[in-house]
Amino acid sequence: RSRLEVDAIFQNIIYEDTVTSTQQVAYKLLGEGAPHGTLIVANEQTSGRGRLGREWYSPANTGIWMSLIMRPNIEMQQTPQLTLVAAVALARAIKEATNYDVQIKWPNDLIFNGKKIAGILTEMQSDPDRVKSVIIGIGINVNQQTFPESIANIASSLSLETRETFHRVAIIEHFLREFQWLYHTYLEKGFSFIKPLWEARAISIGEEILAKTANGELKGVAEGISDEGVLLLKDSEGNSHRIYSADIHLLEK
Ligand code: BTN
Repeated sequence: RSRLEVDAIFQNIIYEDTVTSTQQVAYKLLGEGAPHGTLIVANEQTSGRGRLGREWYSPANTGIWMSLIMRPNIEMQQTPQLTLVAAVALARAIKEATNYDVQIKWPNDLIFNGKKIAGILTEMQSDPDRVKSVIIGIGINVNQQTFPESIANIASSLSLETRETFHRVAIIEHFLREFQWLYHTYLEKGFSFIKPLWEARAISIGEEILAKTANGELKGVAEGISDEGVLLLKDSEGNSHRIYSADIHLLEK
């Protein structure tokens, strides 16, 4: 099964000029039976979506907006690991294509000079206990020269930070190669192989953070991720917490 999955990945790449959201296109294709590994890439999104219902600024000609349809043979609680695999692949791809190092902020923001330059939105469709499909949406700010005022202090692009321009297709190519390899390795060897690669690029590990979860806020030191990909946080009383979903803020020292 894993052999076939890997062989089938990225056989089907669809390019669109303008879409509402590549996630939306992916849902439609999923309903039409699109195979595992189908990738949708768009030049522009008119209503790009971020995590937690936010908008994702996706202007034409400058960024990479893409969604990957997967039909993985994994358990439901493994889905966060898939996102972490994608984050590692993306960080490595950016390094290979641009020679710049980016960092990962749990769960899946890519950070450059303290600003967010890429994000991952993973959406899962499942039966009660089985993953049916996963859509991994990836947005990379590559060549934008400006950002809306509302996000200008937290978001940036590779180009703004380096004063260079980059070839978007080259970044995509590197990502596909890295993701294919890492996903294959993940299926064969497990998440324990991915975890150190993720932790090596992680920005918030060992730091004091504020985690804003649906159930409230938690302050403490981020200790690392568990073997499942869950964030481990230790509060000032020494209690350990497992964070499944949150917005993470680094606290100033
Ligand atoms: C985040 O909030 O950090 C996740 C951002 C994900 C953006 C990408 S762009 C391609 C895909 N289509 C969307 O509408 N969103 C994702």
